[in-house]
Amino acid sequence: MTPLTLWHNARIATLDPRMGTDGWGLIEHGALLTEGAHIAWVGQAGDLPQGLAPSRTVDLGRALLTPGLIDCHTHLVYGGHRAAEFEMRLNGASYEAIARAGGGIRASVAATRAASEESLFNMASRRARALMAEGVTTLEIKSGYGLSQEAEARCLRVARRLGRALPVEVHTTFLGAHAVPPEFEGRVDDYIDAVCAWMPGLHAQGLIDAVDAFCENIAFSPAQTQRVFETAQRLGLPVKLHAEQLSDQGGAALAASFNALSCDHLEHLSAAGIAAMRAAGTVAVLLPGAYYFLRETKLPPIEALRQAGVPMALSTDHNPGTSPGLSLLLMANMACTLFRLTPLEAVQGITLHAARALGLKDRGQIIAGQRADLVAWDLQHPNELAYWFGHNPCLHVIHNGVQRP
Ligand code: NIG
Ligand code: FE
Repeated sequence: MTPLTLWHNARIATLDPRMGTDGWGLIEHGALLTEGAHIAWVGQAGDLPQGLAPSRTVDLGRALLTPGLIDCHTHLVYGGHRAAEFEMRLNGASYEAIARAGGGIRASVAATRAASEESLFNMASRRARALMAEGVTTLEIKSGYGLSQEAEARCLRVARRLGRALPVEVHTTFLGAHAVPPEFEGRVDDYIDAVCAWMPGLHAQGLIDAVDAFCENIAFSPAQTQRVFETAQRLGLPVKLHAEQLSDQGGAALAASFNALSCDHLEHLSAAGIAAMRAAGTVAVLLPGAYYFLRETKLPPIEALRQAGVPMALSTDHNPGTSPGLSLLLMANMACTLFRLTPLEAVQGITLHAARALGLKDRGQIIAGQRADLVAWDLQHPNELAYWFGHNPCLHVIHNGVQRP
């Protein structure tokens, strides 16, 4: 039998709607038993099952315990940075104009191709550690700055290696259809053929958990996106989409027709897109960092998503072009201030709903049977997770039942 660990003297925000009526699922004098990587029992300390002999007991010192945080949309592996482009935008150039002139994603592609696998690993590892320091226990990482078979494989290998080297679970997403690389200039459909041709080999190497594309007027059309999705579907890989960020391309409805796990960005999402996502059970991933950094003014249709009951997740979208931030807690705060999410919605967005955006049902709440991914915070109430910004109240992180050093 796997030894039990007892974690006690905590206020626990389970996010279990069966506990209480306000959605936080708070347990005031909480205790929790873990068995290996899973939660075996959670409840009031006074209700602890009798006759158990935990092999270890940890006093959490009245800390607030929440599920581990999940960053479900990042582009963590890339070379270089684009501070000069930020400066150009502040001098009047638009994101689209810079992209059309060969900057933007393509600039990061050049820097990524020039970087060794080791240096990409070292840079991405520092970024992952910054996210982890704020309680991230599950992390999605997209490729998309390599855009050749070899360079995409290199970035995905780096992502896989991060998951082995660090106490965080990494989910990889193949985003070959992120931009057209220079060698395919003017041959967009040929590039889509190439992306589709690389996919089986990358998948055979165990490098892909999901497939994404950038469906946008400066990137790929719905028809081109569809071809990428058809290839993913043949391989049994789930899909997600960068959809309706700068314009309404009908990408969300297309993705929903492939039962997409998530559609992400969504500032220009239509009522038809919402209906399709709702019917397919697709999660809306909102990215306030990109909205903020691009100084967008068109808000995602939050109230309509809420009314439709489409789960809303939040993520950093960490990338060098549109969201160079590494704080998921800041995203929770911005989701409240910029998008008017409630603090409960914001916290669900970086836990429960973020898990669903990755197709994961075994984490995101503190319930017996779920993964023992937990964060102890120097906070009284979980609404503070969306309140403070620019400081890190994380005390301890427990990943797979083990406290990180
Ligand atoms: O999620 N929208 C497309 N991809 C990234 C930005 C990529 C870049 O500018 O490097 C995003 O915002
Ligand atoms: Fe993105």
